[in-house]
Amino acid sequence: MLMMGLLSSRVVFFLFLVFVIWVQVDFAEGSAGNYISWEDLRVNEQMLSFEKSHNEVRIIVVNQNGGGHSKTVQGAVDMVPNNNKHRVKIYIYPGIYREKVYVPASKPYISFVGKRNQTASAVITWNSKSSDKGANGQALGTYDSATVGVDSDYFCATEVTFENSVIASAGGKGMQAVALRVNSPRAMFYRVRIKGAQDTLLDNTGTHYFLKCRIIGKVDFICGSAKSLYENCRLQSVAENYGAIAAHHRNSPKEETGFSFVGCSIRGTGSVYLGRAWGNYSRIIYSKCNMDGIINPEGWSEWNRPDRKKTAVFAEYECKGKGADRRYRVPWSKSFCYEEARPFLDKSFIDGEQWLRL
Ligand SMILES: *[C@@H]1O[C@H](CO)[C@@H](O)[C@H](O)[C@H]1NC(C)=O
Ligand SMILES: *[C@@H]1O[C@H](CO)[C@@H](O)[C@H](O)[C@H]1NC(C)=O
Repeated sequence: MLMMGLLSSRVVFFLFLVFVIWVQVDFAEGSAGNYISWEDLRVNEQMLSFEKSHNEVRIIVVNQNGGGHSKTVQGAVDMVPNNNKHRVKIYIYPGIYREKVYVPASKPYISFVGKRNQTASAVITWNSKSSDKGANGQALGTYDSATVGVDSDYFCATEVTFENSVIASAGGKGMQAVALRVNSPRAMFYRVRIKGAQDTLLDNTGTHYFLKCRIIGKVDFICGSAKSLYENCRLQSVAENYGAIAAHHRNSPKEETGFSFVGCSIRGTGSVYLGRAWGNYSRIIYSKCNMDGIINPEGWSEWNRPDRKKTAVFAEYECKGKGADRRYRVPWSKSFCYEEARPFLDKSFIDGEQWLRL
């Protein structure tokens, strides 16, 4: 028994050593943890050529003028192996990249990083709209109009512009033209610009964090069924007259989804609704936002479905500016008190403690 005990404690110690070495090797190789950190959003621009030759940190350089690993963004995504276990940073040189890009679910842990402090300079742009015919002769639909579609888990992006250059005419049919569609279970966007007209950002499914982003459009320009926190973002309306900022889709009070805007500024043109009820239980909250006088005084729309007045959760909390005047708001929208607003005010709304280390 004693021998057995000794033996097994040696075995345990040996296994422990193997584990320690494995962990160290793993970290040396830059294995991705199941979280997103600031490090994932950073590329040392001085070290690009060094990292190219050593390849310890996985960086794929995109330069449309040559000299990188790929001339296109999709080319770089294609270089990432399926089921990769390590963070791969795709560094995109300034330039206009005219292409549609798809980042599949089979490739988690991908970062798109543009040149530091130059949000506009790496632009990924295309011009599909929902009424365009696809390869099978059918209309593309909103989903497939996206210039960039991301299904990848733990995806993050910074200092990149996502654009759909279709200019939607007000009330035009089939003009949905998505710049960025996000289906990632978890994803973060920091200082990115998302530019379009109708349905600019299809924040479709998953749990997402948008920090200091600029989102530009006319109608429902932030739409989808995701659970997302938009913090310190700039929401810019380019509507001529009628427009809407957010259209959140939720069919049941059991779905823990919603769009929460915190500390955002709302500027631009037109007369825009803060939100429209897409689905019976649409949920949109603006807290501590600064609203210019471009908000339709009624504030919110039930999308011509009177029943939704009872079930949609549309609320404002401590907003400022000319557009924040609630005197003429539809009476079924809410002015939240602190206790009501609290669950939506920070990263706990998006379970950030589980997947963000910032
Ligand atoms: C980038 O911007 C930050 C904050 O605005 C600033 O502190 C930093 O010095 C800038 N870096 C470069 C390389 O310009
Ligand atoms: C939304 O509410 C209407 C009216 O109560 C109901 O008829 C409809 O089935 C609901 N839709 C969904 C998807 O639950």
